[in-house]
Amino acid sequence: MSYDFKIKAADKATLYRDMASALEGLVAGEPDAVANMANASALIFESLPDVNWVGFYRNVGGELVLGPFQGRAACIRIPFGTGVCGTAAATREVQLVEDVHAFPGHIACDSASNSEIVVPLIRDGELIGVLDIDSPTTARFDREDKAGCVKLGDILSGVL
Ligand code: SME
Repeated sequence: MSYDFKIKAADKATLYRDMASALEGLVAGEPDAVANMANASALIFESLPDVNWVGFYRNVGGELVLGPFQGRAACIRIPFGTGVCGTAAATREVQLVEDVHAFPGHIACDSASNSEIVVPLIRDGELIGVLDIDSPTTARFDREDKAGCVKLGDILSGVL
């Protein structure tokens, strides 16, 4: 079987809707979290324009540990409360950062990254991990991206 996603949409709402249905199809019936995170990062990386890193950090005993991703090799362990991902994990709130260089404690994994969105993944009250998406463009992510990424996160929380 081959997956050939050519998701191109005129507007962001349509793009995220198409991505959400592709993601639902990809993870349907698959209980393996690593496989689902791997395919989700590939799908998002391929479909979203102007991103240089897409991936997951998992909550492993109260610390974020790198999971499947697309992009450059990244830092492996991030304490809760540190950087953008650690802040998303500690506050359980989406972090939409227009300029990562202005974010206190930001961890620069890829010097090409200038803006970032991090979505906490929560199931049954437990923080499973975070979905992290980076862009080389300052202020790449807006409220529509936030809504779209939260929807992708909701799909993923159920299958990780
Ligand atoms: N910049 C992130 C670290 C992860 S990398 O971007 C892949 C942060 O500050 O949490």
